[in-house]
Amino acid sequence: MKALLCTTHGEPELLQWADVPEPEPGRGQVRLAVKAAGVNFPETLIIRNLYQFKPPLPFTPGGEAAGIVEAVGEGVTRFKAGDRVIAMSGTGAFAEKMLASEHQLVPLGEGLPFDVAAGFTMTYGTSHHALKQRARLKAGETLLVLGAAGGVGLAAVELGRLMGARVIAAASTDEKLALARRFGAEEGINYAAEDLKERVKELTGGQGVDVIYDPVGDRFAEPAFRSIAWNGRYLVVGFAGGEIPKLPLNLPLIKGASIVGVFWGAFTAREPDLHRENMAELVQWLQEGRLKPHIGAHLPLSQGAAAIRMLMDRKAMGKVILVAD
Ligand SMILES: NC(=O)c1ccc[n+]([C@@H]2O[C@H](COP(=O)([O-])OP(=O)(O)OC[C@H]3O[C@@H](n4cnc5c(N)ncnc54)[C@H](OP(=O)(O)O)[C@@H]3O)[C@@H](O)[C@H]2O)c1
Repeated sequence: MKALLCTTHGEPELLQWADVPEPEPGRGQVRLAVKAAGVNFPETLIIRNLYQFKPPLPFTPGGEAAGIVEAVGEGVTRFKAGDRVIAMSGTGAFAEKMLASEHQLVPLGEGLPFDVAAGFTMTYGTSHHALKQRARLKAGETLLVLGAAGGVGLAAVELGRLMGARVIAAASTDEKLALARRFGAEEGINYAAEDLKERVKELTGGQGVDVIYDPVGDRFAEPAFRSIAWNGRYLVVGFAGGEIPKLPLNLPLIKGASIVGVFWGAFTAREPDLHRENMAELVQWLQEGRLKPHIGAHLPLSQGAAAIRMLMDRKAMGKVILVAD
């Protein structure tokens, strides 16, 4: 079988699509035939040894996949060969076959295609938890989404609209803003060309926005925060822009505003019942056709390095999905 191997830390072009032995599932593990794998921002960091989790070399990147169970190890009770599943494994998904622990698997109903399933859980799970539990977004409020055409950003636009908010999308190109509008954004701000703070002021009649969803950080965080409304909530989701920004603490004081951290992975482990409720709601919305995850590119599994490069070069629109031949 083949797998994308990271044998030395560095740029995606150093990754190799190589022959590896087929893995045998150990106790509590299953082996899947990977049908599709979702590409997420952590892959751009983990291969350069810049991520919080540092697997020993060599390793195969890829945190989420959808596929079919091929073999189960001792002690596995909930899954059997032939089951369709989603695996949230942290690593290992950019391969023809992968191992996952039983607790990392979710059964996948017949209705959902593998490519949609492979890229749904992390992005929609994060944005839903952020808007629902962390921001307590209410219908009628205004939501500003930075990086609004990226994986978690586009999910936040779609979910914000579904939850009844007025969504303002911010992104670096007009093409990205057009995509965000198709997913429910009422307004768009091109923050590569326009003044973010001034445009938010104009679009909200000077009131500012109630909730800010920020997966970008870097130089956009402060102007975004300066455009927050009284009692606003600023969601710290990620730092795709590179720098972890620092904010003067007088800013939340004068607006009576909150800076709210979002850590979806920890939430799923610490509050598993609420996580299950969230996922049930998301899957229901998906099955009712109220959510339509956008896949901007499908690439073969062997092109995992090119897919990671697309995210690093800000070329991804919605999700990039790797598919088995
Ligand atoms: N807190 C959590 O629980 C959680 C969960 C999932 C993901 N995240 C984080 O959320 C962030 C986004 O993840 P994602 O998978 O949605 O990534 P993505 O699809 O690549 O989207 C990232 C967006 O950030 C913007 N960006 C600005 N500067 C960038 C740069 N130098 N390089 C790349 N992108 C840049 C891009 O939009 P523009 O070109 O429009 O600026 C891009 O669309 C990451 O930091 C990730 O670690 C956090």
